Amino acid sequence: MQLRQYPARVARTLPFLLLLVLAFFATAHAHNITRILAKFPEFSTFNHYLTVTHLAGEINRRTTITVCAVDNAAMSSLLAKHLPLYSLKNVLSLHILLDYFDAKKLHQITNGTALAATLFQATGSAPGSTGFVNITDLKGGKVGFAPENSELIDAYFVKGVEGIKYNISVIQISKILPSEVAAAPTPGPAAVNLTSAMSAHGCKVFADTLLTIPDAEKTFQDGVDGGMTVFCPVDDVFKAFLPKYKNLTAGGKTSLLEYHGVPVYQSMATLKSNNGVMNTLATDGAKKFDFTVQNDGEDVTLQTKIVTAKITGTLLDEDPLAIYTINKVLLPKELFKAEAPTPAPAPSPDEAADAPKGSKKKKKKAASSPADSADSPAASPDEDPADQTADENGAVRFDGKGFGSLVLCVCLLVVTVL
Ligand SMILES: *[C@@H]1O[C@H](CO)[C@@H](O)[C@H](O)[C@H]1NC(C)=O
Ligand SMILES: *[C@@H]1O[C@H](CO)[C@@H](O)[C@H](O)[C@H]1NC(C)=O
Ligand SMILES: *[C@@H]1O[C@H](CO)[C@@H](O)[C@H](O)[C@H]1NC(C)=O
Ligand SMILES: *[C@@H]1O[C@H](CO)[C@@H](O)[C@H](O)[C@H]1NC(C)=O
Ligand SMILES: *[C@@H]1O[C@H](CO)[C@@H](O)[C@H](O)[C@H]1NC(C)=O
Ligand SMILES: *[C@@H]1O[C@H](CO)[C@@H](O)[C@H](O)[C@H]1NC(C)=O
Repeated sequence: MQLRQYPARVARTLPFLLLLVLAFFATAHAHNITRILAKFPEFSTFNHYLTVTHLAGEINRRTTITVCAVDNAAMSSLLAKHLPLYSLKNVLSLHILLDYFDAKKLHQITNGTALAATLFQATGSAPGSTGFVNITDLKGGKVGFAPENSELIDAYFVKGVEGIKYNISVIQISKILPSEVAAAPTPGPAAVNLTSAMSAHGCKVFADTLLTIPDAEKTFQDGVDGGMTVFCPVDDVFKAFLPKYKNLTAGGKTSLLEYHGVPVYQSMATLKSNNGVMNTLATDGAKKFDFTVQNDGEDVTLQTKIVTAKITGTLLDEDPLAIYTINKVLLPKELFKAEAPTPAPAPSPDEAADAPKGSKKKKKKAASSPADSADSPAASPDEDPADQTADENGAVRFDGKGFGSLVLCVCLLVVTVL
């Protein structure tokens, strides 16, 4: 047994190591817009301002994206307006389309017109539909670009600059897209109505719930000036959690909501580089109400003793306020009991005989789990006790699973021999 166990373990861990190495190389080969544009001196100003406004990082983080670059002459006329940096950021973010359009795709737009969401939309700074760009196929093979609902088309496709298929396409357009909204000075962060911002971007249930507890809403809104990060569970997830929420005491409800806010502004880059324990708006002396921020590959996870949630999107990120969407409700141990970690039951001979079928099922479940966790209302604390324990104690993760499989293998072997 001892002898068999060792090589089996090595064999179990090897694929994981290989995956890690692969993941490393995949990340290393992710696109870098700064480097792509550096090859073209005519885009040097555009490139410079992508860096200054931190949009470059945002572009590198995303896949399936199109950057509509303009040359230095077009940039000069934008810079002549002497916009403050955050307005400049808004204007440039309107030039980053959240879909892949290369020259071929632009000339094949169904029905001659397409509406593309932009990074301006995604940052939450764009009111209404002002964050969308209308792309129109025109006579003579021309392709026009204009902010949605704008009367006139003034910017045209010039050429494809570089493309990494379906990840990033860099194209040149003739002019900066005219948008009074993007160029307008953004309202100060205090003027941002937190709950409306959340409601407008997929966190309506959480926002509506917050509005029912004026104390909690005030805590959030008052904190914005001094810096604030909100992690809001997306609608499906929070909706599924409502029965449990309604079961809480008044104080518990307030704490649960305030547990989703952190009284410091944290950009995605900060979250990725500063892992560790984080206090929340609910933290009050002995009642810690904290959670742990932990990188998980490219993702950032928030771990309570009971649940591990993943950041799934950025709803707003404008210093001093950041709002991120998460795929699970954060359950503080102060309000919810952690399930005792149940040891994996040793399979009975019957189950072991069934193993091929059983293990296939298990594999399938594992493969689909990222999608599951992304949109399932997986707010229940009792969801996967085994995983939760492993998460609290990262080091045992592979060993635990490896050991379970090992037991299964050995049982299978015994059954086969018999
Ligand atoms: C596209 O992006 C993904 C994720 O960053 C990466 O793994 C893949 O290698 C990229 N594809 C190409 C062709 O670079
Ligand atoms: C992208 O490339 C630029 C210039 O080569 C470099 O300074 C920057 O660190 C790179 N960014 C990333 C995320 O690799
Ligand atoms: C294209 O136009 C036709 C006819 O006007 C319409 O039925 C169809 O839904 C349109 N397709 C798209 C993708 O907009
Ligand atoms: C997009 O532009 C075309 C051409 O100007 C126009 O016919 C169409 O209505 C526009 N679509 C939207 C949604 O603004
Ligand atoms: C934000 O908007 C909601 C509804 O739109 C309103 O009830 C709430 O009072 C507003 N909050 C602030 C701080 O203005
Ligand atoms: C609400 O609390 C009661 C009593 O503690 C419990 O029996 C019930 O299962 C809870 N309901 C939900 C949805 O958590």
